[in-house]
Amino acid sequence: MSDQGSYYQRDRSWHPAALTPQYKTSVLRSPRYPLLSLDNTISEMTGPRFGHDKIGPLDNDLIRNFAKTGDPIGQRIVVYGRVLDENARPVPGTLVEFWQANAGGRYRHKKETYLAAIDPNFGGCGRTITDGEGRYWFRTIKPGAYPWPNGVNDWRPAHIHFSLFGHAFAQRLITQMYFEGDPMIWQCPIVSTIADKAAIDQLTAVLDRNATLPMDALAYKFDIVLRGRRSTMFENRMEGN
Ligand SMILES: [Fe+2]
Repeated sequence: MSDQGSYYQRDRSWHPAALTPQYKTSVLRSPRYPLLSLDNTISEMTGPRFGHDKIGPLDNDLIRNFAKTGDPIGQRIVVYGRVLDENARPVPGTLVEFWQANAGGRYRHKKETYLAAIDPNFGGCGRTITDGEGRYWFRTIKPGAYPWPNGVNDWRPAHIHFSLFGHAFAQRLITQMYFEGDPMIWQCPIVSTIADKAAIDQLTAVLDRNATLPMDALAYKFDIVLRGRRSTMFENRMEGN
């Protein structure tokens, strides 16, 4: 299949159902009627994309890109990996954006209400573009877990949100990355909407001792597969690709 071809259908045994009541907002967000299958228009497949030519030198360094008086507080980490297609071919030139809470589990957002402190030196957003071999890399602070108003006492495991743009504007994919060994993963109402443990494992970055920055940061490896049976579970994808 060429990059311009029709999208793969979502594998319903791999991706969660739209309606998952333990994740309460899915009750109102899930469709009430059968889905319609629409072909992509030419403009959706060839239209403009943005952001690829405006990457700043600190955009992939969340330790420095918002720092005012010093480095942010927390465990220093690097996150790296490759963006691959269904045939394990690297996908170069992909805009990868990421955003996260700070070490205390607090987002820098005006609607954020969690009582954990804002870190004046941490913004929590960054981006980069995959190189010729599909690789990306960024440095950041390991985010904290945070509570959220779902059940009586629900907490999100530490996670980093990812967005990837494909070769056209309509191809934006969003997912979340978790951390190997985190016991909070298995109590999360959002993670538990994914039935296949292998799919959850694919969303979990592994600690990579070989990629640490000595005397600086631990390293986590997270590969993202865009299509086919090895496709990463994306939150906003109605069809594959
Ligand atoms: Fe989050």
